[in-house]
Amino acid sequence: MSARTAAGQARSLEELRATLTGFDGCALKATAKNLCFYRGVARSRLMLIGEAPGRDEDIQGKPFVGRAGQLLDKMLAAIGLSEADVHITNIVYWRPPGNRTPTPQEAQVCRPFLERQLELVAPDLVLLLGGAAAKEILAATDGIMRLRGKWRDVTLGARKVRALATLHPAYLLRTPAAKRLVWRDLLAVKAALED
Ligand code: URA
Repeated sequence: MSARTAAGQARSLEELRATLTGFDGCALKATAKNLCFYRGVARSRLMLIGEAPGRDEDIQGKPFVGRAGQLLDKMLAAIGLSEADVHITNIVYWRPPGNRTPTPQEAQVCRPFLERQLELVAPDLVLLLGGAAAKEILAATDGIMRLRGKWRDVTLGARKVRALATLHPAYLLRTPAAKRLVWRDLLAVKAALED
């Protein structure tokens, strides 16, 4: 059965998790410790999509639980949100060896699952964290500094959403001066949620 057919048959996130657990089509799985599926709530108006699990995420089997994740939680708190309000995932579900950026092929292999995940979470808004997620979801080649800060309508699986790209929290840890750009993007998310 193809990944798309298998993913499409999942009627809940737990069924999708079971399908992913039995899926051997992504080479990253062979070197990862754990499947890293999602953190947060099962249905949300706001879904966040990052790049790939790192070391801490691989150990705990949850996205954004390391240093970048702690900063992400602070960023969300600044606009009044917590894990209880959002759904957080990545464009690939297993840690790339040595924390390299996932290849476009690896993202493509995971894509049917991500699309089904998005259909089940049913968000209105998607916040893309960093260049790898932005390029994958927006089908763009520009760098993140050009892509960030502009709402775009995208169709993912059967769902139409508004997507906004912003800088990755790991980048902000290295470049704190860039936080002001992310603050603008976060305020745009807050305003869109209040629409
Ligand atoms: N960086 C990401 O892009 N995703 C994670 O889950 C952790 C760090």
